[in-house]
Amino acid sequence: MSAADPLPTTRRFRVYRYKRGDPGWRFDPFEVPVGPRTTVLDALRWIQLHRDRTLALRHSCFHASCGTCGMQVNGREALACVTLADPLGSTITVEPLANIPVLTDLVVDMGQVFARFPDEIGTVRMSEKPSRASPPDGIDTYERFEDCIECGLCLSACPVSATSDAYVGPAALAAAQRLLEEPRGVDPERILDWAGDPAGAWRCHVAFECTEACPSNVRPAERIMALRGALAAGRRTVATVTPG
Ligand code: SF4
Ligand code: FES
Repeated sequence: MSAADPLPTTRRFRVYRYKRGDPGWRFDPFEVPVGPRTTVLDALRWIQLHRDRTLALRHSCFHASCGTCGMQVNGREALACVTLADPLGSTITVEPLANIPVLTDLVVDMGQVFARFPDEIGTVRMSEKPSRASPPDGIDTYERFEDCIECGLCLSACPVSATSDAYVGPAALAAAQRLLEEPRGVDPERILDWAGDPAGAWRCHVAFECTEACPSNVRPAERIMALRGALAAGRRTVATVTPG
């Protein structure tokens, strides 16, 4: 904080708590000093350092790139590392993502998110466009393969996922649509079969909450609609979904 910054004010954080073996979950209150640039993740780490070292949460990159700090803040899905605390009011409620089993406190079982993706989704991807890399001869430029940071916010926001564990959810269907856009050696028929399952694209209720929640402009709802179009027409390719 610079000398020009206003002094921090105190905000009351209500933080969801649960440890294995507890009879149930609860909210713990913490008074936290918050300045104009304090993020929710900063505040939670302050609690860890100064009030309760047992508070469990996930984070890594601090800049909306790794997808690990997803949670619900005042009832809305958010990446805690880029969510400022100051505009959120005097009481800030922090909960784990919904529709994903809670392991402890704010940590959910992301393995159950990743397991929803089609088997054809590769595990090694270029996540960013390298700014100074020189493309090899014959290639104009590198392009980002995926915008999805696999944060799970869309799954948490999805009203269908709230009522059905079987539904594969927005991120997995968006990934399938990307594979049809650019198959990279994958058999499109397998993707269509996977997406056409009763737990797939037709299960969506078109609430568009996933697109609203997505911090990475993947537009999963639009991709699910494109998948449905391909399924209805029996097409091996889909309409391209461009960033909105
Ligand atoms: S589609 Fe968006 S909200 Fe869903 S996991 Fe990917 S980046 Fe997160
Ligand atoms: S810490 Fe990586 S997205 Fe928030």
